[in-house]
Amino acid sequence: MLSAIIGGTGVYGIPGGVFTEEIMVTPFGKAKVYRGEGEYADLVFLARHGVNHSVPPHKINYKANIKALSMLGVKNVLATFAVGSLRESVPPLGLVALDQFLDFTSGRDFTFYEGGKWGFDHCVMTHPYCTSLRKRLLEVAKEKALPIQSAGTYVCTNGPRLETAAEVRMYAQLGGDVVGMTGVPEAPLARELGLHYAAVAFSINWCAGLKSEVMEMHEDGLEALKASILDLFITTLRSVQ
Ligand code: HPA
Repeated sequence: MLSAIIGGTGVYGIPGGVFTEEIMVTPFGKAKVYRGEGEYADLVFLARHGVNHSVPPHKINYKANIKALSMLGVKNVLATFAVGSLRESVPPLGLVALDQFLDFTSGRDFTFYEGGKWGFDHCVMTHPYCTSLRKRLLEVAKEKALPIQSAGTYVCTNGPRLETAAEVRMYAQLGGDVVGMTGVPEAPLARELGLHYAAVAFSINWCAGLKSEVMEMHEDGLEALKASILDLFITTLRSVQ
C-alpha cells in the first residue's frame, strides 16, 4: 500500500532514498510529488512549499496536493509542520502530535465540496487528525524513545506575516499550543477525500513577544530532530500497511 509524507518548512526530502519527481495533473491544478524507488517504493513525498521553499503558505495548492495523493491510491498520510511555541509544554525543538486545530485562515480554497458536479457534504471534524494513526505514531515514538507531546492544538494563521504580540496572547488564551500557517485546509481536505491523516509539529521559535523582543529561530539540533521525525513517520507508516 502506498503511503505519503508531507514535509513543511525545512523538510524537503527523505535522506538516503531515491525519489523521482512526478507531476500529477488533477482537476484542481498540478501537484509535484516524489515517488520512492527500491526500498522506498511504498512511499510518496510531497514538499508543501516546494523543494526550494518557493510557495508561500497562502499560495499552496492544497487541493491539488491532496487530490494528487488520493489519485495515487495513498491511504495513510503523515504530515509535519514547523511552528512557533505558545506554551512551555512544547518549547522550541519540542514535538507534538496534533489532535486539534483552530482555523484563522481566510481566502483559501478550502473544500472539495463545491456543490453541483463536485457534490456537497458536511465533513465531520470533531477529531481532525486520524486517531488511530496518531496512536500508532505515539507507540512508535515511545519504542524509539523519541520525546513527543501526545496531543496539542495547532493554530493556523493565514501568514505569511508573523503574529502580533496581542494575537499570540489571544491564541494562547483560546487554547492553542503551537502556531503555524499551513495546517488548514490540508487536514480537512484530506478528511474530505477519506485519507487517514495525522501530523507532527516541531517548534522552531517562541511565538512573537513571548520571550524576547527579537524573534530567535532555534537551529541547533534541528537537522537531527527533522531526521527523527522522518524516521518516526516511515516506521509508523510501514507498521500500519
Ligand atoms: N508563527 C507562525 N508560523 C510559524 C511560526 C510562528 O511563530 N514559526 C514557524 N512557523
